Amino acid sequence: MKYKGIIFDLDGVICSTDEYHYQAWKALADRLDIAFDRNKNNLLRGVSRMKSLEILLGEQGGCFSDSAKEEMAEEKNSLYRRLLGTMSPASLDREVRITLDRIRASGMRMAIGSSSRNTRYILNRIDLEHFFDAVADGNCISRSKPDPEVFLKASDMLGLSPGDCLVVEDARSGVEAAAEGGFDCAAMGDAREDCRAKYHLAAFSDLQQILLQA
Ligand code: BG6
Ligand code: MG
Repeated sequence: MKYKGIIFDLDGVICSTDEYHYQAWKALADRLDIAFDRNKNNLLRGVSRMKSLEILLGEQGGCFSDSAKEEMAEEKNSLYRRLLGTMSPASLDREVRITLDRIRASGMRMAIGSSSRNTRYILNRIDLEHFFDAVADGNCISRSKPDPEVFLKASDMLGLSPGDCLVVEDARSGVEAAAEGGFDCAAMGDAREDCRAKYHLAAFSDLQQILLQA
């Protein structure tokens, strides 16, 4: 097989927490009377919490102090965590679960590469806390996607070079990060048509075929 390892983004790839991000940012934007819709939300995919807030605030960002922004980010995160609290192992899509199990059975090394500082909590909610060989997340990086740091950290943790790993992403910033780091990328969801990706997934389960044929 061409790849020895596979690095998954979390939000919007393994689970639908991207919808909870949207709902929590939308609530904050509504309170601040700032226009926010799903198109704008797509710009936040893969991007860190504080950078996301800056994008949401846009030109109004200059009107708020750093501590006011910290409070806004905390307000969003606490609503987001409440939504995450409703998740259970049943929230993991069956197709995703089966595909992950089949990839695991093939002997491939598996990692998470996510900008989220809530990664461990989410993995715990859906009972995948001990599933991956490595977890690189927002707590162990200083630059979020499109910087390749989180993927380089993940491949390093797996003991593999970027050329030996496939990255799976739903964010354009994540596809860019993969390309910058020297990884092949399989893109899905919002990033599916991104021409910087090598593979374009119609369904998560398409990964099995790609890994077999690569
Ligand atoms: C990424 C999401 O996975 O994590 C972004 O795609 C999010 O939307 C980022 O902003 C940071 O997440 P968190 O959970 O640390 O606020
Ligand atoms: Mg994502």
